[in-house]
Amino acid sequence: MTTAINTPGVPGRDGSGQPNGLDVIDPYRIRQDFPILDQQVNGKPLVYLDNAATTQKPLAVIDAISSYYLHNNANVHRGVHTLSQRATDDYEAGREAVRRFINAPDANEVIYVRGTTEGLNLVASSYGRKYFKAGDEVIITGMEHHSNIVPWQILGKEIGIRLRVVPFNDDGELLMDEYEAMLNDRTRMVSVVHQSNALGTVNPIPEMVELAHARGIPVMVDAAQSIPHMPVDVQALGADFLTFSGHKMYGPTGIGALWGRAELLDDMPPYQSGGEMIRSVTFEETIYNTLPHKFEAGTPDIAGAIGLGAAVEYLESIGMERIAAYEQALLRYGTEKLGDIEGVRLIGTAEEKGGVLSFYMEAAHPHDIGTILDSEGIAVRTGHHCAQPVMARYEIPATVRASLAFYNTTDDIDALVKAIDRVIEVFG
Ligand code: ALA
Repeated sequence: MTTAINTPGVPGRDGSGQPNGLDVIDPYRIRQDFPILDQQVNGKPLVYLDNAATTQKPLAVIDAISSYYLHNNANVHRGVHTLSQRATDDYEAGREAVRRFINAPDANEVIYVRGTTEGLNLVASSYGRKYFKAGDEVIITGMEHHSNIVPWQILGKEIGIRLRVVPFNDDGELLMDEYEAMLNDRTRMVSVVHQSNALGTVNPIPEMVELAHARGIPVMVDAAQSIPHMPVDVQALGADFLTFSGHKMYGPTGIGALWGRAELLDDMPPYQSGGEMIRSVTFEETIYNTLPHKFEAGTPDIAGAIGLGAAVEYLESIGMERIAAYEQALLRYGTEKLGDIEGVRLIGTAEEKGGVLSFYMEAAHPHDIGTILDSEGIAVRTGHHCAQPVMARYEIPATVRASLAFYNTTDDIDALVKAIDRVIEVFG
């Protein structure tokens, strides 16, 4: 028998009196920074468990965006006037905040993009078109989001490259032997998700990078689901490119970042063209700007970049180590509670896992479960989570996915469990 993760009435201790990590953070204090959480939905207190789709925004982020529009709105890098200089300073401060957050060597290696999807498309399109030729191979994994499948497929059709897919076991862990066997002298890129959005699996990036680099192969990391939940250090991971979205890390939608090694980015052609990405233009020839501007054509999402910088500072004020420890404790609590419910099958049970509780019930379709949960004020995502090959691997159409953030509480998990009991009452 396993020891209960918590002792009712004794915060921070498990059933044997040992620390359980649930008191690493006071989520009730944190929730005061997120006014949106304090509301009723369908007559019940909102329980927001759809954080892998998008996170809520703290007042610090909302205020930073509002302050930019109230006081400093102007275009960046284009004016000598005071407002333009203020806007430029704040926009570039956001870039420096991102650099610090991911421990990148140089802020010029941080490119603002719309989000992870654009970061992946940028690398596939710019790097891929320059360096790939027919017969080359790109390795991805069986648990990628569609945004790390389709850009390579499109390129594959155009150039004739082949996609190799690393399979995973029933727990959702990559088969590393198969990965190693796939690396060969035709491999031009490994592009892998850090934390799976559908399963929660955290993949062994440093090990994967080491194996790829031993053969001179660059590695791209999709960090959309990991960066809000754990320290992400590009130098420790050893990757060559890494991308993520602001809106999944408590920042605004429409902004994210791509980090890449300067020596790779420098040699890559622009992804889009227009203003800002040029040094000089004549009708005969254009000379491109330096990094990061070469990849930032047109007026960027200035407010978004400033909001992203504010999100980084907010996360730093809490500390990513603490966030990770608390969410791991909450995940253990949720796994134990959901595991106790007969008829609930957890999808994604890897040893190394982030705060994702994806599950399937024979009794009801995930969309029907989601509707009942919504009537109880509980927000989860139901569907294939833009990872249809994962659903195919488990031979299920979809899952219900509860995804955690550090403002979630054991009360939220208890509410979810109670609502699942209601699903069982309705569907038997
Ligand atoms: N990729 C996001 C998710 O997993 C939208 O929900």
